[in-house]
Amino acid sequence: MPEHINLLFVGDIVSDSGISLLDTVLPSIIKKYSSDFVVINGENAHEGMGTNEHIVKHFYSLGAHVVTGGNHSFAKWKIYPYMKTDPKLLRPLNYPKGAHGYGYGIYEVPGRDVKIGVVNLMGRTFMQPLEDPFRAADAVIEKIKAETNLIFIDFHAEATAEKQAFGWYVDGRVSLVAGTHTHVPTNDHRILPKGTGYITDVGMTGAFNSVIGMDKDTAIKRFLLQTPHRYSSANGDNRMCALHAKINIETGKCDHLEPVIYPSFKTSVL
Ligand SMILES: [Fe+2]
Repeated sequence: MPEHINLLFVGDIVSDSGISLLDTVLPSIIKKYSSDFVVINGENAHEGMGTNEHIVKHFYSLGAHVVTGGNHSFAKWKIYPYMKTDPKLLRPLNYPKGAHGYGYGIYEVPGRDVKIGVVNLMGRTFMQPLEDPFRAADAVIEKIKAETNLIFIDFHAEATAEKQAFGWYVDGRVSLVAGTHTHVPTNDHRILPKGTGYITDVGMTGAFNSVIGMDKDTAIKRFLLQTPHRYSSANGDNRMCALHAKINIETGKCDHLEPVIYPSFKTSVL
């Protein structure tokens, strides 16, 4: 029997709705899936954009080991000094050299005598023109492989094509690629031929009575009028979108992948 670690990745936490749901359900989900290592994407946690030190530490207190980011990692400037001090708080690695914070880390899996590399990367299609995430991945995978075969990448990107291309590009070289940013969970989770677990988007943890977590009336107005309107966070129909993966300690490959959506979406009113 190969030995595994159980990795739980929770998709973008959006605002207080996402945080309060996480407070309620995360400890029991960790227990249910015997999660050894927990990663949370927190780039939308503070009022929908960015995060702060208090929220990051709160995630750790709930059981998170690493908090990843994305295009909103730098949205709240007060976090900048803290970003330099916490190697468990990641922002996309492919920001230009000199940007605050860490883009990847290698961490001990508690109680398991094994390490895991976690990388945060951001796509460039319909997003900021950062450095090339594909070549950034080549370099960081090589560095991490010197210490461990277990590698998880949060690929924060808008375009499904870029995420899929990236998944194929690193297939067999990393354990898991999970897409984030669109806030809508995709149903294409699978293990690619060379052993990398893949999903285009994990989805968000927040209010689904919304447009991607934000107030739906404001979103409609923005589309109808094509003028800017101040967004506020939405409430109601809170759900957690996450991913449970079993990673083989010997091979570093993903042996099992399962979305965790709680509560699950209603598909019938009957
Ligand atoms: Fe994002």
